Amino acid sequence: MTSNPSIFEKTPHLLVLGMGGTIAGLAPNPEENPLQYQAGQVGVDALVAHIQSVVPEGVKLVSRQLANINSRNLTDALLATMGLAVREALLDPLVKGLVITHGTDTIEETGIFLQAICGKLAQNQGKRVILTGAMLPSNAPGADGPSNLLDALRWASTSIDNCPGGIYAVMDGRGCLAIDLAKRHATALNAPIQNAPSSSVGLINPSWLSGVKAVQAAWNEDLPIPNEGEWPWVEILTSHAGARPETITQWLNSAVKGFVVAGSGQGGFHDAWAQPLNQAMTQGIAVVRTTRTGAGETLRNIPEVDALGCCASGSLTAPRARIALQLALNAAKLANIASKPLTWQDFFARIADLPVIR
Ligand code: SIN
Repeated sequence: MTSNPSIFEKTPHLLVLGMGGTIAGLAPNPEENPLQYQAGQVGVDALVAHIQSVVPEGVKLVSRQLANINSRNLTDALLATMGLAVREALLDPLVKGLVITHGTDTIEETGIFLQAICGKLAQNQGKRVILTGAMLPSNAPGADGPSNLLDALRWASTSIDNCPGGIYAVMDGRGCLAIDLAKRHATALNAPIQNAPSSSVGLINPSWLSGVKAVQAAWNEDLPIPNEGEWPWVEILTSHAGARPETITQWLNSAVKGFVVAGSGQGGFHDAWAQPLNQAMTQGIAVVRTTRTGAGETLRNIPEVDALGCCASGSLTAPRARIALQLALNAAKLANIASKPLTWQDFFARIADLPVIR
């Protein structure tokens, strides 16, 4: 982790953490082919310097580079580094809010991760953590990164309509809870946020805000970050026409700890998987069902009766359910060491059963 020395570090400031992504991307030939580029090329200090002259007066910025990657290569270790940096900043009285510049490909995973490990802390500290990114590289004509970063800084710094401390995301002029991010379009400028219940950045929608407050009231306790080397191995398996039992059985002699089954429709899966999934659960592998459709909820015992121990993912998409299951398995292991009678299903349900903003 590197940090840029800043004259503002000893005064109240907003902290901008850089993770890379298209917002920090460069295209060799931006005029002719802006979508052929490399993500994670420009430092976060340069991204901040680019918009410094239009930052609202009195807002001081400090930037710190945590990584500069294409987020498709996000790792458990980088999530942990980010989580620790965010928690530390939330506890620092000089940090008034945070913005994280991030690749949009896996911003969905980071959104749920931060909510689960420090959503309560952000709320209690009254600070907003804002994830943002871009769909066009930094040197493309009409690059969306600068305006997204500026919107994110405004959202992090102002007391907009009593919007409480918490973990949010801002893109293309709209803001949402970070747990509602889901990139379901390859190129649209609002790709990670287009399916999320959201509000205009300029004018907060009161009914969205009351949904945010309901989610926050239901989130009572942050979960621990797994230690290095102790992140449970969880795979996403997608059910499809012609699914084979071997897709499940090939894992049964591995160290895998959980499956997220991205089922068809309401979260059902091919009959060919029923027996091997039961075998997996008998062996102690955690199984969560979600839907591969990309939207809607997966409910307990619908469309079929769940095998004992299998959890439905509620509104969690497969990438979110995977992170939630990793954190739930880790929390259950720690609870077991502390002789607390809590299972991974208990911890998973805390995330999966959060209210949905309509
Ligand atoms: C990435 O996720 O790092 C690349 C794609 C993007 O940021 O939109």
